[in-house]
Parts: sequence; C-alpha cells; structure tokens
Amino acid sequence: MSKEPLESNVIVRPAKRGEMLRIRELIALFPDELVQNEIPRIPSFFVAEHRGKIVGCCALQVYSRRLAEVRSLAVQPDYSGQGIAARLVDACRKRGGERRVKQLLAVTSEPAFFERRGFTVHSGWKTALFASLD
Ligand SMILES: CC(C)(COP(=O)(O)OP(=O)(O)OC[C@H]1O[C@@H](n2cnc3c(N)ncnc32)[C@H](O)[C@@H]1OP(=O)(O)O)[C@@H](O)C(=O)NCCC(=O)NCCS
Repeated sequence: MSKEPLESNVIVRPAKRGEMLRIRELIALFPDELVQNEIPRIPSFFVAEHRGKIVGCCALQVYSRRLAEVRSLAVQPDYSGQGIAARLVDACRKRGGERRVKQLLAVTSEPAFFERRGFTVHSGWKTALFASLD
C-alpha cells in the first residue's frame, strides 16, 4: 500500500476513555516486540490520529519523580517511517518534563530508534541492570 504524506494531518494527543480497545489492537500487531499483558492504563497513553483513525500509540508510565518509562510504542505499519513514533515519544518526553521527572527509561527491541531520540545506554549516574528469572 502506498503511503500518503501525513505530517500535517496526524494529530498526537492524550488518549481518551474508550480508546483502549483500539490501542490493544495496535499493540497486538507486534506480539514479538511489545508486552501484551499489563499494558499501561489509558491516562498514560498518547495516540496518533489520522482522519479519525488511531494509527499509533505510546505510554509514559510514571514510577516516581526520578523515573518514568516509555512503553507500548506502536505505529501501524502502513503509517511507518513518517515520524509518527518520534512525535509520540516527544509527547512522552514533554509530559515527563512537565511532571519534573528526572529520567526516562525505555526497554526496547529498537535501541537505534530510541538513541535517535536522545536515549543512551548509560546515563552517567545510574545503570539499569537486569536479572533473567526464566
Ligand atoms: C519502531 C516503530 C515504533 C517506529 O515507528 P515509525 O513511526 O516508523 O518511526 P518514525 O518514522 O517516527 O522514525 C523516527 C526516526 O527513527 C528512525 N527509525 C525508525 N525505526 C527505526 C528502527 N527500527 N531503527 C532505527 N531507526 C529507526 C527513522 O528513520 C527516523 O529517523 P529520523 O528522525 O532521522 O528521520 C514502529 O516501526 C513500530 O511500531 N514497530 C513495532 C513495535 C516496536 O518495535 N516498538 C518499539 C519498541 S518499544
């Protein structure tokens, strides 16, 4: 399917009540990349809307003043490569800044994408470590 230029037609906004089903559908497109259970709650989400259709989503889960996590980032494949994910992550960054969160975390299968958005493997003052339990 050919992609039409979208930039000015896509709105990135906080998700509204009633949109969780569509968000779940988007996330379900990526079972290997995205956690399917324990998805953040609707107030944490931003969505990208194009002509009334939700084509992208991303959540900012705030854990504390110190840390918030960017989660559940998904863009419908027909709309990829047009900067929609970048705008969704920027919206999360902005919200994190407004809430005076010090750091954002992303656990991702797409590190290069997040590195382009200003995320780095090592923050300088703390390091994320993981222990596998399975
Ligand atoms: C990864 C994903 C969110 C990218 O969405 P997108 O809307 O196509 O991305 P954008 O168009 O906003 O890309 C923004 C920038 O990142 C780059 N980029 C996009 N996907 C990338 C990737 N997989 N690796 C490296 N860079 C990538 C783009 O080239 C663009 O670069 P630019 O700012 O220099 O122009 C989308 O492909 C997706 O939903 N994937 C499946 C779910 C997933 O992997 N989510 C992320 C893990 S949490």
